[in-house]
Amino acid sequence: MEHRSDRTPRRRGIDLVVGTRPNLVKAAPILRAFAARGDAPPVRLVHTGQHYDPSMNDVLAEELGLPAPEVVLGVGSGPHGVQTAAMIAGYTPHLLGPDRPRGVVVVGDCTSTLAGALAAAQAGLPVAHVEAGLRSFDETMPEELNRRVTDAVSSLLFASEPSGVENLRREGVAEAKIRFTGNVMIDALVHALPAARVLDMPAALGLAGRPFAYLTLHRPSNVDDPARLAALVSLTEALAARVPVVFPVHPRTSARLAAQGLDARLAACAQIRCLGPQGYLRSLSLLAAAAVVITDSGGLQEESSFLGVPCFTLRPNTERPVTISHGTNTLIDGDLDRLLPLVEAALGGQGKRGGPLPGWDGDAAARVVEALLDAWAMW
Ligand code: UD1
Repeated sequence: MEHRSDRTPRRRGIDLVVGTRPNLVKAAPILRAFAARGDAPPVRLVHTGQHYDPSMNDVLAEELGLPAPEVVLGVGSGPHGVQTAAMIAGYTPHLLGPDRPRGVVVVGDCTSTLAGALAAAQAGLPVAHVEAGLRSFDETMPEELNRRVTDAVSSLLFASEPSGVENLRREGVAEAKIRFTGNVMIDALVHALPAARVLDMPAALGLAGRPFAYLTLHRPSNVDDPARLAALVSLTEALAARVPVVFPVHPRTSARLAAQGLDARLAACAQIRCLGPQGYLRSLSLLAAAAVVITDSGGLQEESSFLGVPCFTLRPNTERPVTISHGTNTLIDGDLDRLLPLVEAALGGQGKRGGPLPGWDGDAAARVVEALLDAWAMW
């Protein structure tokens, strides 16, 4: 006898692909926005396994309230091409089988973003890219390749800032594919800030009420070149002579520092607090209380701009120019010694304060989900 469920048409869901730490932060508000809609199809969370250390993944997933992923690819580390190939090979059967989704959502600009988008496009599925159109115009960055290719195969492009819309238009993308939704990373921040403040990480580090600098470094352009990394360690020592420096060290950076014996130099300086990778709430607690942020992270440029904390970005360019024009960001290119007087001015209250950032209001994910459901209703 035929079972009733065999005759009931399966309600095809939507896949959301994550793999790295910043992907998890962006996924959380999108999942919440789907859950807030009674009419939304089911969302299947797909994890590539690009970030796998508990400190880079599990801690954040729990803090952000993410469900366990339904598809786990477990690719781990490796050259980008090998990671991309393994992700596509692992994901494709899930796109062609009985659980084929109606479309795939990817976020950000990492290898997992690119692989999720390519696998979906090759399987004939529509792709939506959250954080579309960002361009650093720096082809040495692996993320720039990921951004361009992901946008090229996506049929819905959700821009987090006005430059994203402008870049896509200039590249000839059809207007019907582009939506200015604002920044889902800020949705996550707005949601988590009260809990982060309660954690009071500065007090836990003995820095309550004291100005401190919050430092993060992980870009290959800063940490993979031994001379550049040594110069950045010298800069950190000089900075620490003026203000305590809190430095949560990314695994890539940790490995490079150890290879050059630079970790011992940092450890020898009492004013430099090297920590392991921090969870989302602990990092936000430190960021919100910092006097200045010094970073090469895309997310921190945005978060510090939203929070009004002066940010110095150790890169020659940024794909997030709204953080410079409307936020608190300043690029430090070339001469690293420029940083110290700028930090001094910021400590004296002369840093950039920034102003309102268009579309960064805590409701970006709701706009993403509304546009998605509208566009994919027929799939
Ligand atoms: C990746 C993203 C970058 C994002 C960053 C956030 C790409 C190309 N880059 O950079 O855009 O800003 O994540 O963190 O996708 N490792 C561990 N444990 C982990 C993960 C990585 O030890 O859980 C080590 C591995 O040795 C690995 C190295 O860190 O080779 C780099 O990791 P990878 O994911 O390749 O790039 P990220 O530098 O983290």
